[in-house]
Order: sequence, then structure tokens, then C-alpha cells
Amino acid sequence: MALQQKGMHGAWVSRWTFIMAATGSAVGLGNIWKFPYIAGSNGGGAFVLVYLACILFIGVPVMMAEVMLGRHGRKSPINAMRDIVSESGVDRRWAHLGWLGVLAGILILSFYAVIAGWALSYIIEIGSGQLRGADGDTAAAAFTQLLNDPSRLIFWQTVFLTLCVAVVMGGVKKGLGVAVETLMPILFLILLGLLVFSVFKGNFQAAANFLFHFNLDQLTWRSVLEAMGHAFFTLSIGMGAIMAYGAYMPQKDSIGKTVLIVAFFDSAVAIISGLVIFSIVFATPGIEPSAGPGLMFISLPVAFGNMPGGLLIGAIFFILVSIAAWSSAISLLEPCVAWLVETKNMGRFQANMIFAVIAWILGLGTVFSFNIGSDYQLFGFTFFDFLDFLTANIMLPISGLLIALFVGYVVDKKIIQSEMLGTDPKVQLLWRYALRYLAPFAIGAVFIMGLYDKFL
Ligand code: PHE
Repeated sequence: MALQQKGMHGAWVSRWTFIMAATGSAVGLGNIWKFPYIAGSNGGGAFVLVYLACILFIGVPVMMAEVMLGRHGRKSPINAMRDIVSESGVDRRWAHLGWLGVLAGILILSFYAVIAGWALSYIIEIGSGQLRGADGDTAAAAFTQLLNDPSRLIFWQTVFLTLCVAVVMGGVKKGLGVAVETLMPILFLILLGLLVFSVFKGNFQAAANFLFHFNLDQLTWRSVLEAMGHAFFTLSIGMGAIMAYGAYMPQKDSIGKTVLIVAFFDSAVAIISGLVIFSIVFATPGIEPSAGPGLMFISLPVAFGNMPGGLLIGAIFFILVSIAAWSSAISLLEPCVAWLVETKNMGRFQANMIFAVIAWILGLGTVFSFNIGSDYQLFGFTFFDFLDFLTANIMLPISGLLIALFVGYVVDKKIIQSEMLGTDPKVQLLWRYALRYLAPFAIGAVFIMGLYDKFL
């Protein structure tokens, strides 16, 4: 019984630790780096609206389903799914869902570590004043120089993965639990500090107009697909991370309420980051909001290099990005590590090293996409763009769709009833409706239209 309640990896000390851990997983490069630039290149407001709708109507129900499966299984996603499938007495092929999630997770970790490495290197680049007074060309040249240098990229990717191993090695309570309880309050404080700064020193009005002015003509199916894929990516759903964290959640807590809190924090951080970044961008002449992936690494450094106190604010900003990426990446490593510990009875350190090395080697593909391998194309993408598109726009929606169908139609009702005791019956009804009808229909339609738009 004790094992059933806690599982072999232990549990979070409280509901609050779960909330911090899941928020840590959710809030990452997706919120601070990717959200502002995809909102910028998809025209701002309308995209934001669709994105928020995807979070609320699709993301939250699927995330609840994932937490529920994890908490019931009390194991790594692969083994949890296997147990739940046999407990429900249904087709064993459903158990592959655990694998799909973990595979997407390791692919994401591989490129995530490289980009997080850019952020780490920018703490020093900006803080040491190398970009003081830089104009757009100088900042672009500095960024290109970083991307053109595989050894620098590999160095920072390795530092980042080492930081992740250092946390995950410590286990659920002393590693992950302590890390998120320390890092998340720091992250929120820094973000609020930057928000205050951007209200006083940036062009906050223009930023707010840009993000909240709903201009529907700019919206295409492709941008709706992008908004949905991003909703999955930013909530960390569809790849085992949330299922693994759910396995360490206390039994009595309400899944519905907890997930809503996490989704709220995640969206708030995305919007606040967008406001901070665009306030700075709009206050600096000659920078476009639609600058794409370089928005954070080219446009912002120009702004930081030219404002009073900018070096300090800039270094703090990139510390924020690194912390956010760190608390996310550990949740990509944990499901794989937990699986090896359970299945092969391996020590945590060894299991961590194995997956960190796999992610590191795969990450070389991303490293080389920006320099010596930039001509190498897969379906018209560089290796990095291919992985990004494959995971966020294909694997995550498919995995999300299957999770919705599995919990909506397939899983044994008794499992659902026992896990959802703490959740309001009305919320449960809405949740079931979302999983059975809304999510499958929306994910299916957007997915097909989005691919059609992209490739045909
Ligand atoms: N949610 C993270 C982000 O927005 C990315 C992530 C995906 C982290 C999956 C963990 C698992 O950056």
C-alpha cells in the first residue's frame, strides 16, 4: 500500500511542490524565447487569443488526463501506461503512448539544451559589456559568430546538460523538489522586476497594443496549428514530463484545480515575457517585432546595450531565461531516468548519464544545423527546424490526441473515478466532454489543415 501511494521514486513534499515543479516544467524557453517571436511573426493579438483558447480548451483537459494517468500509475510514463492498460484490460497497443511521449521528450531535450546554452553564454556576453552600444549589425554579427562556432555551442550545451544531471541525480525530493522550490520564486521575482522596469523605461503601451489588438486577417490555418502545437509545448504535455511529475503528486489533491493553477502561471509568464520583450523592442528604433528566433538574441541585446543600466538588466534577463530552461529540461530527463531505474534497477547517476549522453549526441545535429551542416536539409528543414517541427507540430498533437481518446473512451472508469474524487463534478463533466469531443475534433482538424497549408 505504501508503495502504491508513493511509488519507488518517492513523492513531492506537498501540493505546492508539485505546482512549482509542473510550473517549472511548463515555463521555459517556450514562454520567454518562442512565444514572443511566434506571436510577433504571426501578427500579435489574434494569435495570442487562439493560443489562450488552445491552452484552456485543449491543453488543460489533456494535462489533467496526463496528471491523472501518472498519479494512478505511480511510475515512469512507459511503465505507468503499461500498468494502466493491463488494469483496464484494453488493447496493449495503447501502452505505446508512454514511449511516444518519452521519445518526443528526448528529441526536445536534445535541441533544448543547445538553445539554453545560447542563453547561458549571453549572460556573460551581455554582462561583460561586449555588446555595449551595439547597433543591429553588431548584435547580429555577435549572434552569428556564436552560431558559427560549433565548439562554443558544444561547450555551453555540455554545461547546461551537466546542470540538469546535477539536479535529476538527487531524486524527487532532494533533487527536483529542492531545485524547483528555489528556482521558481527567483524566476518570478526577476520577471516582476523586469516588468516594472519595462513599464517605466520601455514602450509598454505599444507592447500591450501589439499583443492584445486582435487582428483576425493575419490568422491562417498554419498559425492556428502553430498556436496549438505551442500550447502543447509550453504546457509540457504529450511527452511524459507531466505524467512523470504526476506520479509524485499527493493522492488527495484536486487534479483540476492544480492543473488550472499551473496553466494560469504558464500563460501569465508567456504574456508578461511578451510585454517585457516588446516594450524593450518598441522603445528601440529600428527593431522589428517580427524578427523571428533572433528576437531575443539580436534585438534585445541592442536594446540592452544602449540603455542605462542595460548590461545589468540584460545579464539578469538571460539568467531568467537560463533558470526557466533549466527547470524545464529536468522534467524531460526525469521520465527517462525513472524508467531506467525501474526497469533495469540502475542507479540514478548512471541512468542520468546515459540519457544526458544520448541527448548530447543528438544535440550535435542541432549544433551543426547552424554552421557546418546548415545546407543539409530534411524535408526542406535544417535538422534543428525539422526536430522543432516534428516534435511541437506533429508528435505532441498526436500524442495529445491519443491521450484524450484514451482517457475519454478507453481507460477503466473506476480509475478515473478514484483519481478525480477531489475534483468538482461539474468540472469533471466539462473535462470529459472536452476529452471525448472537443479535443479530438479540434486537434484533428487543426492538424490536418495546418499540414495541408504547410505542404500543399
Ligand atoms: N514547456 C517547456 C517550455 O515552454 C518546454 C518543455 C516541453 C519542457 C516538454 C518540458 C517538457 O519551454
